[in-house]
Amino acid sequence: MKIHLKMRFFSILGASLLLNFLGGRLTEAHTPAATAAATAAQATPVFRLDGGNSTYAFGVNERGELQPLYWGGRLGAHDNIPAAHSFPEAASFDSPYTTTPQEYASWGAGLFTEPALKITFADGNRDVVLKFVRATPSGPQSLDVLLKDISREIYVTLRYSMDAESGILARSASIENKEKQAVLVEQAAAAQWTLPPARYALSYLTGRWAGEWTLNQEPIAGGERVIESRRGTTGHQANPWFAISRDDSHAGGGPIVAGEEHGEVWFGALAWSGSWRFTIEKTQLDAVRVTGGFNPFDFGYKLPPGEHLDTPIFYGGYSDHGLGGASRLLHRFEIAHILPQAPDPKPRPVIYNSWEATEFRVDEAGQEAIAEKAASIGVNRFVMDDGWFGQRKDDHAGLGDWYVNSEKFPHGLKPLIDKVHSLGMDFGLWVEPEMVNPNSDLYRKHPEWVLNFPGRPRSESRNQLVLNLARPEVRDYIFGFLDKLLTENDIAFLKWDYNRNWSEPGWDQVPADEQKRVYVEFIRNLYAILAELRKKHPKVEIESCSGGGGRVDLGILRYTDEVWPSDNTDPFDRLAMQDGFSYAYTPQIMMAWVTDSPHWLNFRATSLAYRMLSSMQGSLGIGANLNKWNAEDFATAKRLIAAYHAVQPTIVRGDLYRLISPRGGSEFSVTETVARDKNQAVVFAFTQATQEGRGLPLLQLEGLDPDAEYKLSFIEGQARPDTPVSASGAWWMRHGIDLDLRGDFRAAAFQLDRQH
Ligand code: DGJ
Repeated sequence: MKIHLKMRFFSILGASLLLNFLGGRLTEAHTPAATAAATAAQATPVFRLDGGNSTYAFGVNERGELQPLYWGGRLGAHDNIPAAHSFPEAASFDSPYTTTPQEYASWGAGLFTEPALKITFADGNRDVVLKFVRATPSGPQSLDVLLKDISREIYVTLRYSMDAESGILARSASIENKEKQAVLVEQAAAAQWTLPPARYALSYLTGRWAGEWTLNQEPIAGGERVIESRRGTTGHQANPWFAISRDDSHAGGGPIVAGEEHGEVWFGALAWSGSWRFTIEKTQLDAVRVTGGFNPFDFGYKLPPGEHLDTPIFYGGYSDHGLGGASRLLHRFEIAHILPQAPDPKPRPVIYNSWEATEFRVDEAGQEAIAEKAASIGVNRFVMDDGWFGQRKDDHAGLGDWYVNSEKFPHGLKPLIDKVHSLGMDFGLWVEPEMVNPNSDLYRKHPEWVLNFPGRPRSESRNQLVLNLARPEVRDYIFGFLDKLLTENDIAFLKWDYNRNWSEPGWDQVPADEQKRVYVEFIRNLYAILAELRKKHPKVEIESCSGGGGRVDLGILRYTDEVWPSDNTDPFDRLAMQDGFSYAYTPQIMMAWVTDSPHWLNFRATSLAYRMLSSMQGSLGIGANLNKWNAEDFATAKRLIAAYHAVQPTIVRGDLYRLISPRGGSEFSVTETVARDKNQAVVFAFTQATQEGRGLPLLQLEGLDPDAEYKLSFIEGQARPDTPVSASGAWWMRHGIDLDLRGDFRAAAFQLDRQH
C-alpha cells in the first residue's frame, strides 16, 4: 500500500523547514520559495500522518501549544488541514488552556481536564505548561515532537509512528529532566486521544478470575469513566483496550448504538503489563478524550537530573467498518508487528496440558502414559503443568525452588522429555518465576526479596508472595534459573504463570522517595528477562498466563507467543469469553483447551464435539483426563484435530466476523473466519438452550469473493438437504445457509473452499 504523508512544520524557535513524504521517502526541501509560501499560507505548523484508511493530524496553535486537529478516515491527499487555533475561555471559569484540546496536556495554568503529565519540582512548584519546540522525522512514517515547559528544564518528546497498512498509530512520551535537582513525576500518560463532540458509545472489557473478557457497552456521558488496574499487573478485572463507536443511527435522543459491521470506530490498546489507567472523558465542551498510560494511583517516579522516563506505547486505530472492522485491523497488526515471531508467526502447535487431568500429582510414569494417549490423537506439544519442582505437593510449598522434584522424577526430566520426543511431540513446562511460597528454600534464604513494607504483615494469596523483580539480584536469580532449565533440558515451550496481584508494594532497599519506581522497574525487568531468554534460546516459545487471562496486553505480547485467556474451560462460557477476547486480540494467541465433562466449575455436561468446536475457534489444546476417555472419544478427537490442522491457518490468521454474538442471553453463537486471499472460510455455529423449537437463523456469510465459486464441506454437522454443495460467494453471502441446528449445546462447523 502506498503511503502518502505530507508534513509541513516549523520550529517556533525560528528556523523553518518543509518536509514532504511522497511514495515512501522523506525528502527535505530547503527551497526558500517553498518555505516562504508555506509560511504565508499557514502561520503555525500542521503535522499529518496517513496510513491504511486513516489520517491523524495535529498542529501548533498561536499560543505554541500542541493541539489535536483530526483523527478519522483518510483525507484526500491534497486536502489542506487548517492550522490549529486555541479555543476561547469559557466564561470566567475555564481558561483557553483547559478549553483547548491538548495533544499532551500538562497540569498547570488552570487545566481542569485530565492531565497527561503532572510533576512536582524540588522547590514545591507543581505548574507545568508545555510548548512546542521542534519536530523531527524519526523514520519514514514517524515523527518525534519536542515540547518544553515555559520556564523549567523539563522536556517531553512525543513519539508518533503510523503503520502503513493498518493506519494504527503508535504513540508514547519520554519525559526528560534537565533541571539541577530531581523531580517527581506523579502522572505520565502514554498519549491522549481526542474526538470532536458527537454521540458515542464506549466498549471495554472487564472480568474476574474464571470470568474474563466481558464486553461492556455504554453511551459516553459527561464526566469521566475510569478503567484501570492498580494491581501491579494487567489484571483480569479490566483489560487495557477500548473502542469508541460513533452513533450513526440518527436516533436523536434514542439509544446509542455501536455497530458490529458498520459505522465509525476509534480504538486503542496500551502495551503495558503493570498498573495502568484509561480515563474516558467527555468535557464540558462535549469533546471526548481518552488519556492512558501508567496508573497515577500511588505513582511517583523520581527522575534525577539528566534522566528520562519513557512511557509505554499506546496504539490507536480507526475503522469505518464497525467493531468488526476495528478488531480485524488489530488482529492483523498484532500478527504483523507485535508478536515475537511477527510478521509471520507459526500457527500454534496443538498442545496437551496436564493441569486439569493431574493437577499437582505429576510423575514420570503418569505423564508418560498420558503423553502416549495425547500423541495418538495428533497432539504436537506435551506440556507438563504445575507440580514438578521443589517440594511442590499442593499450592502451599515449592514456588521459588526450581529444581526437579526427585521423588516424582528420580532421573530428572530427561526420561519424560525423551519419551515425549519419541512420540513425535515437543515438550513444554510450567513455571511461575516471579513468585515464592514462604515454605520454600528461597524464602528461608531471602525473605527480603519479596515486595513488602518492613514491620507490616505480608498478605499471602494462594499461599504465595511476589518477588520484587525491580531488585537486580531477583532479576538475575530468575533469569539464571530459567536459563539453566532451558540449557539443561530440551524444552520448546514455557507456560509462564503469575497467580496473584501485588499487596504491600514496598521496596525498602532504596530510599523512600525512590520506592514507587517499583511500578515501572518491575515490569521493565520482566520484559528484559523475557527478551534475554528469547535471545539466548531462540527456539523456545512462551505463553503468558496469570491464573487465566490476568496478563494479556500488547506489552507482554511482544515477548510471548500466546496467552491463556481463562482458567474457566467450560466450552459454553468460553464462547462469550472468546467473543470478548476477540475484540482486542487475535485468535492466533488465544489458547483454548478441551477439558472434561461435566465441567468442574459449573457441572455443565456437553458433548466432546461441542467442546472441540468451541476450542477450535482459537489455538486448540487438549486438557482433559485422557485416562477417562473411551475409544469413541479418541476417534472423535483424532478426526477433529486432523480437520483443525487443515483449516487452522484460516482460523488464526484470517479475518474474523462475529456473525451472531453469544452475549446477552443469546440462544446462538456463530463466528466466521475468511482467509486473507478469500480462498477459504471456516464457520463455527453453536446453539445454547433454544426454546419453542427455534433453530439457528439463516446464516448470511461475510467477506467472500461474490464472483468466486465455493465448495461446502462439513467439519461437524450438516445443512438442510437442499443446500447446494457448491455455489457463488454471492449465494453464501446473500441467500445464506440454513444449518437446521436446534436444541441444547449443539454445534456445527463447515468450510467453504474456492473452486479454481
Ligand atoms: C493457574 C493457571 O491458569 C492454570 O492453568 C494452572 O497452570 C495453574 N495455575 C497451576 O497452578
